[in-house]
Amino acid sequence: MWFKTTAAAVLLNALCASATWSAYEEYVSRLPKHVSKHQSKRPAITFEPKKPYSAFAKSPSRSRNCYVSSHNDMKTDDSAYILDAIKKCDNGGHVIFPQGTTYVIGTALNLTGLKHIDIDIQGYVQFTNDTDYWQANAFFQTFQNATTFFQLGGEDVNVYGGGMLDGNGQVWYDLYASNIYILRPILFGTIGLNGGSISDLYFRYSPQYYNFVANSTDVVFQDINISGFSQSTALAKNTDGWDTYRSSNIVIQNSIINNGDDCVSFKPNSTEILVQNMHCNGSHGISVGSLGQYVGEVDIVENVYVYNVSMFNASDGARIKVWPGSPAELSGDLQGGGGTGRVNNITYEDMSVTNVDYAIEITQCYGQKNLTLCNAFPSNLTITNVVMNNVHGQTSSKFAPESGYVVCSSETACSNIVLEGIAVVSTDGTEDLFTCGDVDETLLQGINCTTTNKGSN
Ligand SMILES: *[C@@H]1O[C@H](CO)[C@@H](O)[C@H](O)[C@H]1NC(C)=O
Ligand SMILES: *[C@@H]1O[C@H](CO)[C@@H](O)[C@H](O)[C@H]1NC(C)=O
Ligand SMILES: *[C@@H]1O[C@H](CO)[C@@H](O)[C@H](O)[C@H]1NC(C)=O
Ligand SMILES: *[C@@H]1O[C@H](CO)[C@@H](O)[C@H](O)[C@H]1NC(C)=O
Ligand SMILES: *[C@@H]1O[C@H](CO)[C@@H](O)[C@H](O)[C@H]1NC(C)=O
Ligand SMILES: *[C@@H]1O[C@H](CO)[C@@H](O)[C@H](O)[C@H]1NC(C)=O
Ligand SMILES: *[C@@H]1O[C@H](CO)[C@@H](O)[C@H](O)[C@H]1NC(C)=O
Ligand SMILES: *[C@@H]1O[C@H](CO)[C@@H](O)[C@H](O)[C@H]1NC(C)=O
Ligand SMILES: *[C@@H]1O[C@H](CO)[C@@H](O)[C@H](O)[C@H]1NC(C)=O
Ligand SMILES: *[C@@H]1O[C@H](CO)[C@@H](O)[C@H](O)[C@H]1NC(C)=O
Ligand SMILES: *[C@@H]1O[C@H](CO)[C@@H](O)[C@H](O)[C@H]1NC(C)=O
Ligand SMILES: *[C@@H]1O[C@H](CO)[C@@H](O)[C@H](O)[C@H]1NC(C)=O
Repeated sequence: MWFKTTAAAVLLNALCASATWSAYEEYVSRLPKHVSKHQSKRPAITFEPKKPYSAFAKSPSRSRNCYVSSHNDMKTDDSAYILDAIKKCDNGGHVIFPQGTTYVIGTALNLTGLKHIDIDIQGYVQFTNDTDYWQANAFFQTFQNATTFFQLGGEDVNVYGGGMLDGNGQVWYDLYASNIYILRPILFGTIGLNGGSISDLYFRYSPQYYNFVANSTDVVFQDINISGFSQSTALAKNTDGWDTYRSSNIVIQNSIINNGDDCVSFKPNSTEILVQNMHCNGSHGISVGSLGQYVGEVDIVENVYVYNVSMFNASDGARIKVWPGSPAELSGDLQGGGGTGRVNNITYEDMSVTNVDYAIEITQCYGQKNLTLCNAFPSNLTITNVVMNNVHGQTSSKFAPESGYVVCSSETACSNIVLEGIAVVSTDGTEDLFTCGDVDETLLQGINCTTTNKGSN
């Protein structure tokens, strides 16, 4: 039976009476007055004002439609219907999750190896709260013990439609508060995708990161709206907007992120990345790293451009975090140091900050609060050719009067770090006062360097 708006409206009224606004209620509130069974037009992808490192190939139009069936009861697993439609429409088709229809996913879906397919999600898709099942079956991605609810990969895949993916995160936030070693799935796993777009979607309540992009090239994310906070005392931790890993020529643009960890983070071997026109609220900033976490590994982050970001209520604006040369421990499940590699050719341009602890933070002592120890074992991972240009706004009181931190672990571990056009004011009115260490201060234009160590975030 087709889902009726009237039924949705009744349900909405009933649920609105309760204290919390669920993702489903939000989804229903955005439905048009008359839901209809139609195929979405694939959104135009335009790169403005900055262009990606390499041009994207054109994606041919699709020639047949596959509508995804649903139990539409918010409890029975619809995974078999989803797999069936995707299988039928692979190689040239258009899969449609219709408007107003609800889907439940209770099975880990391996959606790699797809080719020339559009996945049009207009409906509401919720992952089950079965934490035992997901811990045993979500796709293990090795890096930081990350797992994903599903993995999407292949060639020339476009996902869009204006619908919503709901990770049902609350049960995970509560469980994590009692055990930090549980494996919380990532909402959207883009794994081994070469050529594709993910656009015009709402992502809600991910148990962990919202997006993990690994082993991928030529993928663009556009018009993604991310949000989700814990409604209990347990915090929603590690809910990064995007983490890129072993990937190149990735674009993330025109998106809105309300979360509690990195807005976008470039993990090992992220190269040729463009991030532009982003609204980030409540995050840990746009971060390179952390890198150098594992002895014996070579981590490279290179040719990254971050342009036109508005950063609100965050721990950091522009951030580069590298572990020192000796092992350090930040927390039981976060420790490391001693890895090698390089951070090279990174530009942050035009960023506004509002109530951000550090507008800029560059550290090679991540995880090691004792600077004496950090300097005794300098990082084996170099930072070179960094430009931060036109970063402006107001920092929070946390490190006042300081508003930035640029500390390398030795004089030779960093070179050519340039700051220009920086205008950040701390809560007491002090302008551009930064902690600086082992960097060429003549390149930090307009920055008043102090050695008073306020510590890193
Ligand atoms: C997922 O599917 C791919 C084929 O596309 C296969 O090579 C891979 O082994 C599968 N992975 C898992 C974990 O089942
Ligand atoms: C998990 O979901 C089921 C079915 O929607 C629901 O009955 C149950 O209360 C949920 N459990 C928790 C812990 O939220
Ligand atoms: C990426 O590809 C490598 C090499 O094929 C493989 O070992 C790894 O499991 C893949 N996935 C991730 C997340 O690194
Ligand atoms: C991954 O899980 C193992 C086993 O629980 C644990 O020893 C290790 O510290 C975890 N690593 C990370 C990076 O979380
Ligand atoms: C994105 O989601 C937030 C939180 O629900 C909402 O306030 C905002 O209006 C949304 N923005 C767009 C463009 O949909
Ligand atoms: C900067 O990004 C915002 C969205 O966050 C957008 O409205 C604005 O047009 C962008 N500015 C430029 C110069 O691209
Ligand atoms: C940031 O998020 C908070 C809720 O966590 C909200 O009250 C506030 O309006 C948001 N601000 C912006 C600028 O998005
Ligand atoms: C990253 O790239 C370097 C250089 O090619 C390589 O040595 C290293 O193994 C790669 N790391 C990962 C995690 O793929
Ligand atoms: C630095 O990276 C930018 C992209 O962010 C690229 O356009 C430029 O060519 C790179 N510079 C060098 C010297 O490779
Ligand atoms: C930092 O480490 C050094 C060397 O181990 C030690 O002497 C010093 O007391 C430590 N400082 C703090 C603040 O813990
Ligand atoms: C890493 O740096 C430490 C000192 O900080 C040094 O003892 C070690 O040999 C270096 N390791 C590599 C692989 O470069
Ligand atoms: C630099 O900061 C110090 C306080 O650390 C202050 O006394 C001094 O006036 C500042 N200089 C400038 C040029 O702002």
